[in-house]
Amino acid sequence: MANQPVSAPTMDEFVSFAKRRGFIFPSSEIYGGLNAIYDMGPLGVLLKRNIQALWWKQVVQMRSDMVGLDASILMNSKVWETSGHVKLFADPLVECKKCHQRFRADHLLPPTPAVPGHNKEQLNNETMKHCPNCGGELTEVRMFNTMFKTNFGPVEDESSVVYLRPETAQGMFVNFKNVWDTARVKMPFGIAQIGKAFRNEITTGNFIFRLREFEQMEIEYFVRPEKWEGAFESWLSWMKQWMETIGLKKEKIHFHEIPDGERAHYSKRTIDIEYDFPFGQSELYGLAYRTDFDLVNHSKGSGQSLSVRDPETNEVFTPHVIEPTFGVERTLLAVLLAAYTKIEGGRTTTTESANEMEVVLRLPKALAPMKAAVLPLSKKEPLTTLATTISAELRKHWMAAYDDVASIGRRYRRQDEIGTPYCITVDFDSGADNAVTVRDRDTMAQERVKITELVEYLRTHLEVV
Ligand code: GAP
Repeated sequence: MANQPVSAPTMDEFVSFAKRRGFIFPSSEIYGGLNAIYDMGPLGVLLKRNIQALWWKQVVQMRSDMVGLDASILMNSKVWETSGHVKLFADPLVECKKCHQRFRADHLLPPTPAVPGHNKEQLNNETMKHCPNCGGELTEVRMFNTMFKTNFGPVEDESSVVYLRPETAQGMFVNFKNVWDTARVKMPFGIAQIGKAFRNEITTGNFIFRLREFEQMEIEYFVRPEKWEGAFESWLSWMKQWMETIGLKKEKIHFHEIPDGERAHYSKRTIDIEYDFPFGQSELYGLAYRTDFDLVNHSKGSGQSLSVRDPETNEVFTPHVIEPTFGVERTLLAVLLAAYTKIEGGRTTTTESANEMEVVLRLPKALAPMKAAVLPLSKKEPLTTLATTISAELRKHWMAAYDDVASIGRRYRRQDEIGTPYCITVDFDSGADNAVTVRDRDTMAQERVKITELVEYLRTHLEVV
């Protein structure tokens, strides 16, 4: 059969698709953009919100051992001094003495994987000595703190410095006692949060993979010290299941156990979950055992006890923490890339666009930006009124598109390209039999459905996770 899926898109092709279809735009583009900052377009914002809503539903709503939080981005600077970020949240930097371009030294190591745990001396020995751009001599490695700083209030001096949070995690640690005292939780339990994080990354690139402003979905799961291994394993299997739910193929996922000496300063065990992106295998998510590092340090830093009393044994202890962490934009990138399917020669042979390359975005239905599209066969009455009424009814339940421009084949393809699971054609019989034709994005199977039963039909066909 001629209609075979062809190879994965190149990154250039994909970036242009993401812009053309309104998923992702470069920030402030009319002024030349801002490096490593992107905006979500009309479809991107829907996809992003669907990812976040699905995650929140599974992590908070469906679990009795989890609660949510929405902490502020700006926090007392003592938080970041105590957490170790002021001293240690730094990447190794080298600068070209000739063209003054700056690089992350560990990104210059052959064969180029990022190795955050490398120390300065190791990097000075191993790093490339010449600029990959102009061949100029590179400086010695120095550590560059990647937290963005700003001033709080009208005085701009050292005492007013605050940081844009580089991770959402600390908001959950410093609120630990508030949650424990108010949410009627018991050990083990977790706090989940979705929110912005900022990092002044030295090197950027690969589209929305490494951003300076991005979002994280993070969990801090608090356990009795001796229970950490069980919780670690259980969150690891949840993460595997999550990746399957969002459409990522097992064979593209890799689990990288970070060895001693290379983990972040707070971690006793970390697994980086890596994904085969078109630009190489790179970190998608992380799972860390943060011990009691954060709670103990914030206890010391604030002078407030962050230990708890076991109601059964009366024993007082500081909980240990398992942290599954998920970048939102990296999720969105992986989800879009996994769903993007190019079909050479097209899937249909009955329309004028047969033999054209077709793109079908095979998104999980729960994530699709538009759940349905209403397509009247003609732009004239009575089809228009009927189709707009159906569309308005569907919009009470889901995002639904309306398209009456171009041939029906073209309109199907437009919806396939943005991943709309169902196209609803209103035709010349619809007024008489009170029915429409529903076409499935993946199978292209068509079914006649009564208009009065359409909402229920879609409800049962759009997977509820
Ligand atoms: N609280 C732990 C923490 O922040 P991390 O590995 O530094 O750990 C967690 O970051 C996740 O955030 C990463 O696995 C990745 O998905 C995402 N992430 C980190 N830096 C990013 C960046 N510059 N741009 C986009 N996503 C990023």
